[in-house]
Amino acid sequence: MASQISRIFLLLLVMTVSLVVFILSQESLLKSWTVFSGKHELRWENVFFDINLWGQEEKTAVAETPIPLLYRGNFTKLPQWDFDDVYNQDAPPRPTTCAHSLRNSQDENFKKAFLPNIRLFLHKDNINMSEWNRLSHFNNPFGFMDYKYDDVMASVKLIPKPKEPLLLPKPGGDGCVHCAVVGTAGILNGSKVGAEIDAHDYVFRMNGAVTKGYEEDVGNRTSVYVHTAHSITASPYFFGKYGYKSAPHDEGIKYVLIPEGMRDFQWLEGLLKGQEVSGGQFNKKWPGTYYSGQYNESRFYVLHQDFLRYVRNRFLKSPNLNKRFWAIVRPTNGAFALFLALHTCDTVDAYGFMTDDYMKYSNYYVQKYIKTRVIFYANHDYKLEKNTWKDLHNRKIIKLYQRMEPESGTEKPK
Ligand SMILES: *[C@@H]1O[C@H](CO)[C@@H](O)[C@H](O)[C@H]1NC(C)=O
Ligand SMILES: *[C@@H]1O[C@H](CO)[C@@H](O)[C@H](O)[C@H]1NC(C)=O
Ligand SMILES: *[C@@H]1O[C@H](CO)[C@@H](O)[C@H](O)[C@H]1NC(C)=O
Ligand SMILES: *[C@@H]1O[C@H](CO)[C@@H](O)[C@H](O)[C@H]1NC(C)=O
Ligand SMILES: *[C@@H]1O[C@H](CO)[C@@H](O)[C@H](O)[C@H]1NC(C)=O
Repeated sequence: MASQISRIFLLLLVMTVSLVVFILSQESLLKSWTVFSGKHELRWENVFFDINLWGQEEKTAVAETPIPLLYRGNFTKLPQWDFDDVYNQDAPPRPTTCAHSLRNSQDENFKKAFLPNIRLFLHKDNINMSEWNRLSHFNNPFGFMDYKYDDVMASVKLIPKPKEPLLLPKPGGDGCVHCAVVGTAGILNGSKVGAEIDAHDYVFRMNGAVTKGYEEDVGNRTSVYVHTAHSITASPYFFGKYGYKSAPHDEGIKYVLIPEGMRDFQWLEGLLKGQEVSGGQFNKKWPGTYYSGQYNESRFYVLHQDFLRYVRNRFLKSPNLNKRFWAIVRPTNGAFALFLALHTCDTVDAYGFMTDDYMKYSNYYVQKYIKTRVIFYANHDYKLEKNTWKDLHNRKIIKLYQRMEPESGTEKPK
């Protein structure tokens, strides 16, 4: 009898110890679980799978198949992963020859956040299955959540590896790359900074970048045009009445695409194949015709999901990412363009970006004759961006064009 009781006791002990060991071994799983905000029943399976996959990957380094789809709709706020803030980086594009480059800033906050060699561009040679699976955890434009491997890869596999860095110092200059980034804000109306903008080595523009008829205030050169499939197709409609006919197309211009969603991958496939788009919102449109003859594969760049996510995570993390509409919340095209300049230029002057006194100006600089109000769309956190530009200016990372003129009237740009 006694020996039977002790045997049962021993069995129970062994079972308890095994259970404790099992629970401890699953600790990482439990940790992921607590930060998870989606609907529990289904997510459990995915988390489990995920941990297994990543655990396995450490050993074998190759995952052969795409992970099962993760759906945006299953999360009530931005999901968090322990590899959220891990990014691919590239070798520096060139030796720094500029002593006063923003890269040499001694500002502690900036130094902590800034990754000078963050991977900027996506192309066919820097994506593989483990990259796909990693990026599938992030919603668009920060990754491929909700998207099918074949749908996206059909176009990513066509993107050539850029042969040159986006920008190089101008020959005969001071070794620095000086850039102006020109937003579309109303503050530029009547500013007369056109010549100052054009005097930079490179001028970045985005969205409805009308210059004809506005040269005195906004300049006339465009060296880098940042766009999405939506912005390049919609701008002629929105800005047509202000004189916008087509995207900027200066000789030798570089085009940069923000792949914000599936429609951009469909756009890319048509563009890179020299065909019409097959399927989706831009079905039957000819992407090649939107660049006024200046499209050339060797001057076309596609932003990398890691770069877009890094900009959001480290510089523009809106509290709206915790709201139910988190999946549409992202920095503006202007913000991505400005950060692209911060990573490809030595000095950056920003014009036409939102400032504290935005209420004094129209929404867009093209709105000269009627004073319009600045429109706040739910997918962007404009106030956060406005404060970020001001902060970068105060830390002397960028120079932000502001017009804090006295109420008396005479303009005194700072
Ligand atoms: C997750 O999202 C998918 C696709 O929208 C849907 O079919 C599924 O029912 C969702 N699961 C849960 C648990 O909400
Ligand atoms: C996949 O691509 C990543 C990022 O470019 C790279 O670090 C990794 O070594 C690649 N993995 C394989 C198995 O090629
Ligand atoms: C645009 O600038 C011009 C010249 O300074 C000014 O007369 C006009 O009122 C401005 N338009 C708006 C809408 O502020
Ligand atoms: C911009 O304006 C300058 C000065 O008027 C002119 O020389 C130049 O050709 C113009 N550039 C473009 C791209 O229109
Ligand atoms: C694109 O640019 C390359 C490099 O400058 C040039 O050799 C090529 O002829 C251009 N292609 C077209 C179609 O203009």
